[in-house]
Amino acid sequence: MVELVLQQLHPAQQTIFNSTERNVIVMAGRQFGKSSLCIQKIVHCLLGIDNNGVGENAFYITPYYKLAKKFYRDLVNAFPSELIESDNKTDLQITLKNGAFVQLYSADNMDAIRGNNEISLVILDEAAYYDVETLYGDVIEPMLGIKDRGRCIIVSTPNSTNGFFRMWQAATDGMDDWEAFKYTAYDNPFWSKERLDKIKANARSIIKFNQEYLCEVSATEACPFEYEYIQKARTSVLSTKKTVCYGIDVALGKGNQTGDWTAITGLDDTGHITYFDRFRIPSSALQFNKMDVLDKNTLKVIDSTSVGNWYYEQLQNSGHYVEGMSFTNSNKTDMVYEFVNATEKEEVKVNDIIADEMQIYEARLTKSNNYQFGNQAGKNNYDDALTSAMLAYKGLSDYGLKSGGGQWSVYSV
Ligand SMILES: Nc1ncnc2c1ncn2[C@@H]1O[C@H](COP(=O)(O)OP(=O)(O)OP(=O)(O)O)[C@@H](O)[C@H]1O
Ligand SMILES: [Mg+2]
Repeated sequence: MVELVLQQLHPAQQTIFNSTERNVIVMAGRQFGKSSLCIQKIVHCLLGIDNNGVGENAFYITPYYKLAKKFYRDLVNAFPSELIESDNKTDLQITLKNGAFVQLYSADNMDAIRGNNEISLVILDEAAYYDVETLYGDVIEPMLGIKDRGRCIIVSTPNSTNGFFRMWQAATDGMDDWEAFKYTAYDNPFWSKERLDKIKANARSIIKFNQEYLCEVSATEACPFEYEYIQKARTSVLSTKKTVCYGIDVALGKGNQTGDWTAITGLDDTGHITYFDRFRIPSSALQFNKMDVLDKNTLKVIDSTSVGNWYYEQLQNSGHYVEGMSFTNSNKTDMVYEFVNATEKEEVKVNDIIADEMQIYEARLTKSNNYQFGNQAGKNNYDDALTSAMLAYKGLSDYGLKSGGGQWSVYSV
């Protein structure tokens, strides 16, 4: 008989631990006890504590190799040494005498994680710090789907409104097979309120403190859009009114499968989206066809910076009503803030793709003290759809095409 000593879970940890949902997603503040909880789940899984003593295998995924090494050590320490058959700190794998193993990975090595059908539990720790949507959708879900009892636990402090936040939100909204939890650092009774208050008082950024300890998620500090207004601007319905302006953002790359997109957004006279298309086509002529099919007499505002200029000229030559916008720091800043103001006045309605890009849009200060706008770093983070919407809105306001919010003036003539 071997004695296993585990920390007594605190009440909030216990609530999460007791969930029997297939997928559990936990948004919790720093030092809540997320990783400790996950380690206990791994111990239960490998020893088969909740499975009539039949041990099963697990994966533990962290954002970086260094963290994987840390949790590897924590896990080795969590098991009584008599139960360990082998532990390999190069492979980051621990195998128990009962045959069950846990393998640690860093998420930046996604390809290595694929293709193991013998896994019953996957922990995705600090999931807001990698592309968890792709990892879960492409790798984890298919892998666990093979096993009836396969479970996934995703935990993290939030990191703006990125993929982790979207998954947590979908689970909160009642997605099948999912349970969502949210706790603040104050829910960990092993941390005194005074200690947290002190951290708060010394915090360099209160927005960061609120996000990391209280899980009050905002778009990043650098994001010019307020979350509340992004949500208000979202719509799943295309307007059936006439398009009065199209915005076209042209991909700089060759339109391969990984680069940026060419995006086209149409707006009606109230700023409501009427049309959306985005594509990556490795042929200028075929890309141009996608633009040429639009109504010739409807205004198009196109990004005519660098490669965009060729499309601008082609559209002109084909008789389109088109204006080119060659971006400079100054005119791009104006365009962005005009669009920000429009969202705050609730004068635009855009689709989810554009709204999601608004959430990860950032203004970065350059060495020469100018703002540079673009998406937050990340493999699947783009800003092309949003740029096309901004160009369309610019056309709407610069060329007097807005309806003025449905107000009518009556004249006697
Ligand atoms: N149930 C518990 N009993 C006693 N101490 C605990 C318990 N849960 C967590 N702790 C302690 O609280 C601290 C934070 O725990 P842990 O590292 O698990 O939190 P975390 O939420 O993963 O933190 P981070 O945000 O830094 O990743 C650690 O010192 C841990 O030992
Ligand atoms: Mg942790």
